[in-house]
Amino acid sequence: MENLAVKKVFDTSLLRRVFSFARPYRRSFYLSMFLTVLLAVLSPVRPYLIQLSVDKYIANDLMQLLFTVTMLQVGLLIVETVVRFFFSYLTNWLGQSVIKDMRVAVYKKIVRLDLAFFDKTPIGTLTTRTINDIEAINDIFSEGIISIVADVLMIVAILGVMFYEDWRLTLISLSPFPVLIFATYIFKESVNKSFHRVRNAVSALNAFVQEHLTGMVVVQAFSAENREFGKFRTINKDHRKANIDAIFAYSVFFPIVEIILAISLGLMVWWGANKVLNFEVTQGVMIAFIMYLNMLFRPLRILADKFNTLQMGMVASERVFKVLDSNEYIPDNGTHTAENMKGGIKFDHVWFAYKDDRYVLKDIDFEVKPGQTVAIVGHTGSGKTTIISILNRLYEIQKGTISIDGIPLPDYKLEALRSRIGVVLQDVFLSSGSIYDNITLRNANISREQVESAAKLIGMHEFIMQLPGGYDYQVMERGSTLSLGQRQLISFIRALLYNPAILILDEATSSVDTESEMLIQHAIDKLIADRTAIVIAHRLSTISKADKIIVLDKGEIKEMGNHEELLQVEGFYHKLYMMQFKQAESPL
Ligand SMILES: Nc1ncnc2c1ncn2[C@@H]1O[C@H](COP(=O)(O)OP(=O)(O)OP(=O)(O)O)[C@@H](O)[C@H]1O
Ligand SMILES: [Mg+2]
Repeated sequence: MENLAVKKVFDTSLLRRVFSFARPYRRSFYLSMFLTVLLAVLSPVRPYLIQLSVDKYIANDLMQLLFTVTMLQVGLLIVETVVRFFFSYLTNWLGQSVIKDMRVAVYKKIVRLDLAFFDKTPIGTLTTRTINDIEAINDIFSEGIISIVADVLMIVAILGVMFYEDWRLTLISLSPFPVLIFATYIFKESVNKSFHRVRNAVSALNAFVQEHLTGMVVVQAFSAENREFGKFRTINKDHRKANIDAIFAYSVFFPIVEIILAISLGLMVWWGANKVLNFEVTQGVMIAFIMYLNMLFRPLRILADKFNTLQMGMVASERVFKVLDSNEYIPDNGTHTAENMKGGIKFDHVWFAYKDDRYVLKDIDFEVKPGQTVAIVGHTGSGKTTIISILNRLYEIQKGTISIDGIPLPDYKLEALRSRIGVVLQDVFLSSGSIYDNITLRNANISREQVESAAKLIGMHEFIMQLPGGYDYQVMERGSTLSLGQRQLISFIRALLYNPAILILDEATSSVDTESEMLIQHAIDKLIADRTAIVIAHRLSTISKADKIIVLDKGEIKEMGNHEELLQVEGFYHKLYMMQFKQAESPL
């Protein structure tokens, strides 16, 4: 892992790709590069002017010129400060602009990915990619590459001037440099390791907190707080240890740099003083060299740090690009628009597996005529939800064909297909926002009147008006303040509003009171009237009214027919009916 990370910095193709995101902002990029060069060129000028003042003007009592040069220095200082301001502003602006684009690109990508991708990638990982990793890429721009170039240029400029002034003095004062380079190397490696650990600890913390807040009910209901707390404390300890190790490296390294600088200065003064006495070196040069050495050490001290930042940014960018490069989406090459979809569905010997060849659906073969209602029944895990997922093309099937109105699913435009199929899922997802927002999914083309009339049609209006704020009732995250039945009723309205040609309904298994039951029953009747419907049903009333019942068992169709026919067969359905519905029937 470490070696991999080291290599990353020199991975030019990766770096090039990061910089390709800066292309829209190339003017700012070039400008900041220009400012970098300007700063590098300007930096040795002031010490040189001081040297000039000491050697020429003070020594020869040229007060007027001394004043002019001093004023020039003040001017130069102001220019340098202004350039520095623009440089720092520009590089940060550039970084922020790039990561804004990247974040949008990553999000767009993630949203379109195949559901199968999410089955194998933890949500926490994707959150980290879109938030933290991209933040680290910002540092490539604001603290990484450009400012490393700036520092290196400045170091080169200063070294050049130093050697030009007096190469022997330069060599003497730079003689402790190998020690510095060695110390820097050790420091860089150790900090890098600690930061890796810090990052791992942070993502472990994130994952832990996220998961436990979401599953708070379970944690508290099983009084698992203390056990879980112990786990949390361990992760926190790792986090602290890693951070302290990093701080330790800093607190050792910085004084060492100071000592080396002091030795450098000492050597220079010791050797230089002799030369000054012999008039081989001027006083001005000595003073200028003190400034040069200071200017050399300052960037060197943080260069190692910046290099680490760059390295972390590169590792992060590699991870982000991996997400950007994943091409696991459902191909969308169809041309049919599905506008006049009638809703005749045909499954032709369909086989499907979520993974490899562990088939969850085997040789599924049935047909639904436009306007018909089909009920699917079967044990839990028999593949009912899976059937509707593949009808919506959330997953691609491996064998056979599914067609609607005689056209195979892949020949439809994906969005067109999905917009004509309304779904009410078993597990209704509501997001934070008002009920109204949750019904329209923030589609501005849907008016309030439409929402209300849809709600009235399925008898939901009164129920919503009872909630505090009515349609503006604020749903909490994941809809946790509403009951399962209530959530499903809200999603009924959502499905109805889009007036789909085909309605898919995965009934929630929750048992509800008689009044809600009647509400739901009424809503379902309205929903499936006048359109093709596939209902994964748990209610006898829905099942018995269906034109066709498909009995599914372990991914295979066991029986097919209407209620009376299947009861006569006295097979699987009959057994199911006897077990599940006979006793449930009586209270209704
Ligand atoms: N995303 C997935 N990845 C892998 N396997 C899955 C996935 N979703 C479901 N399965 C598996 O596929 C099989 C069928 O699941 P499915 O959700 O279709 O059952 P179901 O009939 O809807 O059950 P229930 O009545 O409990 O809702 C199960 O064995 C399940 O473990
Ligand atoms: Mg299911």
